[in-house]
Amino acid sequence: MSSKEFAKDEIFKDHVISGRKLSKHIRREVKVEVARLTEQYGISPKLVTILVGADPGSQMYVRMKVKASNKAGILSENHNLPEKTTQAELLTLIQKINADREVHGILVQLPLPTHIDEKAIISAIDARKDVDGFSPTNIYRLFYGEEELSSATPQGIVTMLDYLGMDDLSGKHAVIINRSNIVGKPLIMLLLNRNATVTVCHSRTADLASFTRQADVLVTAIGRRKSKEDPFYITSDMIKEGAVVIDVATPHGDVDFENVKEKALWVTPVPGGVGPMTITMLLKNVVAAYTAQIS
Ligand code: GUN
Repeated sequence: MSSKEFAKDEIFKDHVISGRKLSKHIRREVKVEVARLTEQYGISPKLVTILVGADPGSQMYVRMKVKASNKAGILSENHNLPEKTTQAELLTLIQKINADREVHGILVQLPLPTHIDEKAIISAIDARKDVDGFSPTNIYRLFYGEEELSSATPQGIVTMLDYLGMDDLSGKHAVIINRSNIVGKPLIMLLLNRNATVTVCHSRTADLASFTRQADVLVTAIGRRKSKEDPFYITSDMIKEGAVVIDVATPHGDVDFENVKEKALWVTPVPGGVGPMTITMLLKNVVAAYTAQIS
């Protein structure tokens, strides 16, 4: 097998899912697809990113998204706006980009400054260009089982499961620790679509371990250290033998990776797990948005 082919044994190895390697594989496919579509339609897919303010984490995420897009043959235009940008100014920019036929995807990096109403901004994005899958129309579609333009992180998670052959979770209990609009809530839909029994835990859940111990698939996105001495919220005593454990937390994982690895069937590392998959699913969303608009 040449190194360019799908090396499944390298992606899923020693109980560890390499999101980085799976991403590399999928991004190669996306790049080929982008080249083919660009040739066919005579126009490249284009993504516009909008970042308001100068949060270093958000800046880094946007840079990574743009870099990965460009590498796949997707054009980009990046608006880095000052923190003091008004909601009206942002809405005007979005309306202009909505009307630009050469732009197929719009991504407004969240969170926005507190003086801007996130819901108003997301709702203003043309649903066909909403490559984050956050707009009312795309959330409604997801409710009806249409996953095409849905949130990238949940898509990255179920794509890893799909590649493991776990695309039907009938009889399996999936436990999500997160209730955000970006991760937990859309993931409920994606897991239900795959017939899982889904439980959602969050910061107000009592006796978290009683839920995690039942999980055949555990997805955790707490994103905080428990304490200095005891940094991991998810320890191996909280895991069912043979579970699949997906750690969404950044920059430090929620999961005591080294110990959980010995007990779980599969676990994702941080970094190199869900993070790269999220960006890869964004690229797939851009291609899906472009294809739907161009054809
Ligand atoms: N902030 C954290 N995650 C995301 C994401 O997936 N998309 C956007 N636009 N902002 C985010």
